[in-house]
Amino acid sequence: MIVVTGATGNVGRPLVQALAAAGEQVTAVSRRPADATLPDGVRHHRADLADAESLRTALDGADALFLLLSGELLTGGESPAALVDVARSAGVRQVVLLSSQILGTRPVPPSHARLGAFEQAVRESGLDWTILRPSGFHSNAFAWAEPVRTGGTVPAPFGDVALPTVDPADLAAVAAVVLRGDGHHGRTYVLTGPAPVSPREQAAALGEATGAPLAFVELSREAARAHLLAFMPEHVADGTLDILGAPTDAERQVSPDVERLLGRPAGTFADWARRNAAAFHRTSPAE
Ligand SMILES: NC(=O)c1ccc[n+]([C@@H]2O[C@H](COP(=O)([O-])OP(=O)(O)OC[C@H]3O[C@@H](n4cnc5c(N)ncnc54)[C@H](OP(=O)(O)O)[C@@H]3O)[C@@H](O)[C@H]2O)c1
Repeated sequence: MIVVTGATGNVGRPLVQALAAAGEQVTAVSRRPADATLPDGVRHHRADLADAESLRTALDGADALFLLLSGELLTGGESPAALVDVARSAGVRQVVLLSSQILGTRPVPPSHARLGAFEQAVRESGLDWTILRPSGFHSNAFAWAEPVRTGGTVPAPFGDVALPTVDPADLAAVAAVVLRGDGHHGRTYVLTGPAPVSPREQAAALGEATGAPLAFVELSREAARAHLLAFMPEHVADGTLDILGAPTDAERQVSPDVERLLGRPAGTFADWARRNAAAFHRTSPAE
């Protein structure tokens, strides 16, 4: 049995679907109840990763754990070792950690220090481990859904800084390959999209996907920071803006790992925008 944490999110949801479609027994974990999109036969278990013990019953009888860490765990809360200990003591043999590309591209910034500690705990766990280090997700564009729907604008900083963002569905597909296949123990994979894309280009792709051109509105770093502070602590907002505004050469580079593991090219932002266009459709003034 495979336990998938973050099971109702951008990566976890398609991962649960892929594993269930492949005939695996799956337990889906999130804090809130799952909605009707959970495939038939998949068990849902409510647990809060901030309390490692709440995961214990979900892990009963599990062979493998896909570990996706929520924002709170990356800023404090349960210790990495405690979460890994619960998995090991429940009899789990394999863990796949969703980490971040940043761990390998620059001196670890304070925003990613906890993630580094989770990587270390997983590597030292004695379990069969694999670490996935993705670039930024295509799905971060959901943050623009409201301004697109209501005003036809895409507000973002660093409009012309292009990064190879990745499709979370590809991360799910890679995780499924790793969880179901052999030869991934002790491996760290860097997972990016197929080409760098800037926020301005993403806005153009979203306009094409929704059938109406969108206005790109370049935000100052300060304005973007004020917006991010509504969702994250200061050091995480600052770390995020540092990466978006001044990426290293390694962060601009396309990694071959998605294509190598899936046997097909990674999905473009334009593909993602077409698949998710419904979330961005304009509301008319009368609505
Ligand atoms: N977004 C990026 O650009 C990026 C880049 C690199 C790495 N990552 C990594 O990707 C992960 C986040 O991806 P995302 O932003 O796309 O997430 P997301 O899709 O919004 O998914 C979050 C999922 O985790 C669950 N969850 C949240 N807090 C939880 C908790 N305390 N206990 C149990 N379940 C919890 C949520 O369900 P409930 O709310 O119902 O619990 C949901 O299923 C993080 O680990 C982050 O480090 C993201």
